[in-house]
Amino acid sequence: MTEPLFCVENLRVSYPGSNDWAVDDVSFALNRGEKLGLIGESGCGKSTIGRAAMRLLSPASRLSGKIKYKGESVFDFNPTQLRQFRGEVVALVFQDPMTRLDPLMTIGEHCIETLRAHQPQLSRRQAKEKALETLEKVKIPVNRWGQYPHEFSGGMRQRVAIALALLLNPKAIVADEPTTSLDVTVASEILQELTRLCDEHEMALLLISHDLAMVGEYCDRIAVMYRGKIVETGSIKSIFKAPQHEYTQLLLKAALHLHGEESEGLPETRENKQTPLLKVKALKQHYTLEGNLLEQWFSKEKKVIKAVDEIDFELYSGEILGLVGESGCGKSTLSRTILQLIRPTSGTVEFQGEDLTQLSPEQMRQKRRHLQWCFKIPMLVSIR
Ligand SMILES: Nc1ncnc2c1ncn2[C@@H]1O[C@H](COP(=O)(O)OP(=O)(O)O)[C@@H](O)[C@H]1O
Ligand SMILES: [Mg+2]
Repeated sequence: MTEPLFCVENLRVSYPGSNDWAVDDVSFALNRGEKLGLIGESGCGKSTIGRAAMRLLSPASRLSGKIKYKGESVFDFNPTQLRQFRGEVVALVFQDPMTRLDPLMTIGEHCIETLRAHQPQLSRRQAKEKALETLEKVKIPVNRWGQYPHEFSGGMRQRVAIALALLLNPKAIVADEPTTSLDVTVASEILQELTRLCDEHEMALLLISHDLAMVGEYCDRIAVMYRGKIVETGSIKSIFKAPQHEYTQLLLKAALHLHGEESEGLPETRENKQTPLLKVKALKQHYTLEGNLLEQWFSKEKKVIKAVDEIDFELYSGEILGLVGESGCGKSTLSRTILQLIRPTSGTVEFQGEDLTQLSPEQMRQKRRHLQWCFKIPMLVSIR
């Protein structure tokens, strides 16, 4: 194997005024084009490593050990080497890209300025061409060129930040806690994009995070940190299969526990409870769009809206469940169907062992008082 892009050797960092090592004898390598996840709880020293690797620590910090970039000592770079290094290794400040973007400059001006600072030989036209091409890669439409950062959503600002990094053709990107400020769907979209671009351009990625599941999804290898030290390094597969260090085992257990509950929906509390309070089985609520008389005669296929389609779940006494899903996915239709406010197309709804779909309207009116009362308990069914 060729020499790693980054090599951290016995790194120790202590902040001014502190006697403790925020980073304590850390060694690891980042290979060319590799995606390495640096993971650990808050305060364990992850960001400090990132800052040290990019030479962003205050000169008053105490440092020992070595960081090599392409075999050269990062701490010994002269100003020219440092400038070149800063173009090749780019920090992505995800937490708040607003702090990196100037509110008085359009997105286009940001791109041109970044490009011309690093490649002054480019004409304005060439710069614009390259910038537009890069914005397209992160899916920012051309017509956004003249807009200001506040006119962009959080996710789009992240994309702009990625584009600004890409403009420099970096060899490596250091991304510190990319998902903290974004909602889950936008965050995973951004990470997907970023890792795709890393693969496409053979960029290495140091992904700093406290989220093991996320890192596992997007990286090739993981380094686990605990109290200033790297306690374990390995491929995603080996770490997930056979974690060695106690802290890694704990992290994994926590991640799997959450995941298990999500996918199986069988929390342990159910074990000694036999009958569910509410049991929904293969519940369907399909609406047929009839159209006008002519359409009914002549159209072969009826248009069917499957508002609720084959829902199964059980709710046990004392359980708290929430109904989650995007707008229009069928949450309200499901609860109305359970309450028999609308009759289901098919399926059953058992309440205390009795099938509500078989009850007469009068019997149901009696029951509804109970159900109304029960339904003040929030329910969790995640609809996918
Ligand atoms: N600028 C700073 N000055 C002094 N101490 C700091 C500074 N930044 C971080 N620390 C301390 O260094 C340790 C590691 O912090 P950090 O690298 O930010 O951890 P992480 O990124 O894993 O949450 C913590 O104890 C933190 O309080
Ligand atoms: Mg941090």
